[in-house]
Amino acid sequence: MSPEKITPEVIRRRKTLGEKITALTAYDYPTALCLNEAGIDMILVGDSLGMVVLGHPNTLRVTMENMLEHCRAVARGNSTALLVGDMPFLSCTTSVPDAVRNAGRMVQEGEMEGVKVEGGSDMAGTIAAIVRAGIPVLGHIGFTPQQSLKGGKKVQGRDRPCVERLLSDALAVEQAGAFAIVLECLTVSCAGAITEKLTIPTVGIGSGPCCDGQILVSSDMLGLYEAASFKHVKEYANLATIMKNAFGEYIREVKEGRFPGKQHTFE
Ligand code: KIV
Repeated sequence: MSPEKITPEVIRRRKTLGEKITALTAYDYPTALCLNEAGIDMILVGDSLGMVVLGHPNTLRVTMENMLEHCRAVARGNSTALLVGDMPFLSCTTSVPDAVRNAGRMVQEGEMEGVKVEGGSDMAGTIAAIVRAGIPVLGHIGFTPQQSLKGGKKVQGRDRPCVERLLSDALAVEQAGAFAIVLECLTVSCAGAITEKLTIPTVGIGSGPCCDGQILVSSDMLGLYEAASFKHVKEYANLATIMKNAFGEYIREVKEGRFPGKQHTFE
């Protein structure tokens, strides 16, 4: 029996059934193939693409064109996971019609099944318009990297007014029609309080175990991007070391004339 295709409805049902949601980012075809085989629920083509693939210092230089190219590559490798594309910087803040048009491009040209929008109460009208156009929306509050030029604290929810603001942002995103919401870098108790209050699932990154699901940047949890070392990340592998060892061995073997061997050549 082939595995069930994950839809926004399946993600919502996970919360009702008390089953944890699993999500990771991907930016290319081979990673999408591996994630599907492993049985992930949701793949986010994140604008973290800017840092972990394109080598930018932040997410702000990521364009719609960058996103669409990588979304299509991921879609080619996907069969069962729910595919969500991140709306990059300025793609949904210049006007509501721009936001709906760009979200539509993520579906029509990027082959995504939903989009992620950063922001709380300030983005509720935009989220509602995208949902009305028939495009499922994943919300994202707490630390929102597209607002990083403003400065401010990374970990949020340490005082009462901040918890209340985050709670009202989360409720606004839910009321706007999002099917789930990412909580980034909230304290455990704040993320727990929001998870209890909302009927839609919360998907945490750096927000503790009370969330309805978890998401990480794949390159971080694979140890592929050595510049990154965050408290919230558990390294499940160290691919950078594996790759450097393999490259080093290849270089040595070529220099010493040990590669290619007989089995790699044609008579
Ligand atoms: O861009 C991204 O990878 C994200 C995740 C950190 C949630 O937004």
